Amino acid sequence: MKIICTKDYQSMCRVGANILSAQIILNPKSVLGLATGSTPLGVYNQLVDWYKKGDLDFSQIKSVNLDEYCGLSKNNKQSYYCYMYENFFKHINIDSNSTFIPNGMEKNVDSECQRYDSIVRKLGGVDYQLLGVGHNGHIGFNEPHTSFEKETHCVKLADKTIEANSRFFNSIKEVPTHAYTMGIKSIMKAKKILLLVSGESKAEILYEVLFGPIVPTVPASILQLHNDLTIIADKPALTVI
Ligand code: GLP
Repeated sequence: MKIICTKDYQSMCRVGANILSAQIILNPKSVLGLATGSTPLGVYNQLVDWYKKGDLDFSQIKSVNLDEYCGLSKNNKQSYYCYMYENFFKHINIDSNSTFIPNGMEKNVDSECQRYDSIVRKLGGVDYQLLGVGHNGHIGFNEPHTSFEKETHCVKLADKTIEANSRFFNSIKEVPTHAYTMGIKSIMKAKKILLLVSGESKAEILYEVLFGPIVPTVPASILQLHNDLTIIADKPALTVI
């Protein structure tokens, strides 16, 4: 693994955007695995900025998102569909038929999971997977105790995750209790992985993720076994290391 330490959140995002830009320029037909949450926002802003300056072309890029809340429609402002559209897709020239996100409104869990896995397969897999990490070590919505063997599946969100993500909702009661997520197996199949971590509140979990035992109680610890993993973390996130 390669760890890049940056002085703050802004520079972490700039370095992250640089790495993804290089991927896009060198392989304009890349399949990007995209993440939500606060952490990657600055990366999306930077990529949009460079696109607007004429430096990037997304016309042949394809994207698959990690996860989506169950029960939130595309129009719901808290859905990850809406997050991706508002923060990234609507600002760039990516083809709307080339961006994929699990359908949180599909009640037939098996058929939605199979549909999503087959999309990823048809695209030829993910070239570069962008990841953030939850305070309990989750990636996507693969919560502690998840099986490392799963592809897309439906999960019950951990109380810690519901609490952390309630900041985006009017009240904690509005936070969905379940979500569709690509599994650890799907994530580990990506050719390259870029993990972004910012802030002192993530320092302890980052240490466990990178240097602790590889255990399902810390789902992101499996990333230690990936052969092309880059971590970009700001100084506060690296205080324990
Ligand atoms: C959510 C997302 C994850 C994200 C995590 C951390 O639960 N499903 O993909 O990594 O939150 O979010 P943040 O970056 O806001 O700390």
